[in-house]
Amino acid sequence: MEVLRERWGLPRLEVHAALASTNDRLRELARAGAAPWTVVVADTQRAGRGRGGSAWHSPPGVGLWMSVLLPSARGMEGPPLAPILAGVAVSRAVRELVSGARPRIKWPNDVYLEGRKVCGILCEDADGRGIVAGIGVNVGQTPDDFPPALRGRAGSLRMASGRELSRRELTAGLLAQLRELCAPEPRALDGSLSREIEALDLLRGRPVRTDGGVVGRAAGIAGDGSLVVETAAGGTRRLVAGGVRLLETGGEGSGGSERGERGGRECSS
Ligand code: BTN
Repeated sequence: MEVLRERWGLPRLEVHAALASTNDRLRELARAGAAPWTVVVADTQRAGRGRGGSAWHSPPGVGLWMSVLLPSARGMEGPPLAPILAGVAVSRAVRELVSGARPRIKWPNDVYLEGRKVCGILCEDADGRGIVAGIGVNVGQTPDDFPPALRGRAGSLRMASGRELSRRELTAGLLAQLRELCAPEPRALDGSLSREIEALDLLRGRPVRTDGGVVGRAAGIAGDGSLVVETAAGGTRRLVAGGVRLLETGGEGSGGSERGERGGRECSS
C-alpha cells in the first residue's frame, strides 16, 4: 500500500477489506488531524451511506468505495461545489478508462452512463477540517448484482463498456483528476470548466420538478454549483440543496414519465 500512497502522492492511504463507511472512517481521521488528500478505500462497506440518509449498497469486489479529504475553500458549505467537482473528476476518469464513454452529471451528486446511475457522491463537512468527499462507483456489477429495486436504473462501468475494468486504474485516474480540480483548493466553476460542465449536464434544457415542488426547465449549473431552474411562471430559481426529478419520457437518463432520480436519494448505485 505504501507504494500506491507514494505513487499517488498522498499523505495517508488506508485500504480496508471491510468498513462500515469510508466517509465515517475519514471523518474520524480528519477529527484526529489528518492532512488534506488523506484517502480511505474499502472493498466493501457494511453501512455505506448515500444522501438523505439512504443506504448505499456496497458489495465486495465490484465497486470503488472511496473517501477523499478535500481541502476546504470558502463557500464550499453553501452550494454544492464539491460534489460537482467530484462528478467532473469521475466523468473524466471514466472517459480515460472507457473510450467513447459519454458520462453525464445529474445535479448535484450523481454520474450517469447510458441512462443509468453508475456513481453517487456524498460530500460532508469534516468539522471545519476539510470536506469528506465520498465517492461510490459501480465498476464490475452485472444487472443481477443489484437489488431488485435498483435494477432498472443502476448501472456499472462493466455494463456500459462490455468489459471488466481495473478498479486500481480508476482510482489512480480519479485521484489525479480530483487533484487537478481541487488542489490547492477547489476550483471555481468558470471558463473552460463551466463549458465542460455544460456539456456534462444531464438535466440542462429538460423539464424538472424540485423536491420543494417547483416545476420548470433546468437551465444549467451556475458558477457557484447551484442549479438554475426556469419556472413555468417565468421566474428563475437557484437550487443550492435538495434534489430534482426529470419530468420527461425518452432520451438519455430517462425511462418513465417521472423518474425516481432524486439527487442521490436512491441507494447504490
Ligand atoms: C448518493 O448517491 O446518495 C451518494 C452515495 C455515496 C456513496 C459513497 S461510497 C464511499 C462513501 N462512503 C459512504 O458511506 N458513502 C460514500
